Amino acid sequence: MIAKPSNNSSIPELKQIIIPKHPEWPKLTAAEKTELKEYIKKLLKEQNAVLAAHYYTTADLQELAEETGGCVADSLEMARFGTTQNASTLVVAGVRFMGETSKILNPEKRVLMPDLSATCSLDEGCPAEEFKAFCDLYPDHTVVVYANTSAEVKAISDWVVTSAIALPIVEHLAQKGEKVLWGPDKHLGSYVQKMTGVEMVLWPGSCVVHEEFKSVALERIIKLHPDAAVLVHPESPENIVKLADVVGSTTALIKAVGSMDNKEFIVATDKGIFYKMQQAAPDKTLIEAPTIGVGATCQACAECPWMGMNSLQNLAETLEKGTNEIHIEPSIREKAVIPIQRMLDFAATRK
Ligand code: 13P
Ligand code: SF4
Repeated sequence: MIAKPSNNSSIPELKQIIIPKHPEWPKLTAAEKTELKEYIKKLLKEQNAVLAAHYYTTADLQELAEETGGCVADSLEMARFGTTQNASTLVVAGVRFMGETSKILNPEKRVLMPDLSATCSLDEGCPAEEFKAFCDLYPDHTVVVYANTSAEVKAISDWVVTSAIALPIVEHLAQKGEKVLWGPDKHLGSYVQKMTGVEMVLWPGSCVVHEEFKSVALERIIKLHPDAAVLVHPESPENIVKLADVVGSTTALIKAVGSMDNKEFIVATDKGIFYKMQQAAPDKTLIEAPTIGVGATCQACAECPWMGMNSLQNLAETLEKGTNEIHIEPSIREKAVIPIQRMLDFAATRK
């Protein structure tokens, strides 16, 4: 049971989130792409920089990160990666919270992003002041926030988690008898609550990309491909999670494609992940879970519009001009690093 505040009006009303149009980058010929990639490689080297790319960025960016000794990873691994590098500049291709987390963990390094306006609907839907007011209603709860939040929200939290580590961390808190206030993703929160049985209060945020997967259409596709395994990221609504064979972080879903015997997979998460899935199992067939339905609001179905703001073109420009640097106010950084480091320390004990 989700514990509700006694005064229902205290459940925050979320402001409307403006979803940007998915950017359309000018198409490059193969020769132009090779030339641009070589140019970026040269800039990375000259500036003692490494590139960390999330699984939802374009195949070009993921390939470039691989070719230059950077990393292609989920948000937990991206956070860890920066702390292991000698490079003086970290370039983060992903969304803003990923760049901020890198900067919080590596204050001495320069952290650049191809586009600082690449945010996330979860982050945008959880303003620090309102979240703080919500937390104040539950002073006896441990505040656990998803990494997809601003540095300011992290600064008022006890724990940061990513989808790869949320379940064990909440189980750990439950063993200590703690009650959990969870933000901002209500779907991931209710999944964690269901799996752990922990009493949790949930902030009502959601991801506009995963919110769009449609269960009726998914059931239809499952009927057409009865031998396919259904892979679902837990940011998806409960009726989609119910249809899954595997629910997990981006890394867990990629691993499932490599390790399961199925020849076909229906994938309910951002399709940028197909690059790594195809690499893990080139002979397997990947099918996009359907997103089109009445009431669809995501303007770039199964493609995060904020992740789409990263390209080879603006990465080159960022390195060239040294623009789009992440700065975090020291007083915020000091507080935000505590719950992030707590997560990394916890993750290290499980390795
Ligand atoms: P991961 O932590 O699995 O990389 O997910 C981050 C994210 O934003 C998913 O939408
Ligand atoms: Fe945020 Fe959703 Fe985009 Fe992930 S896919 S970055 S949760 S908006």
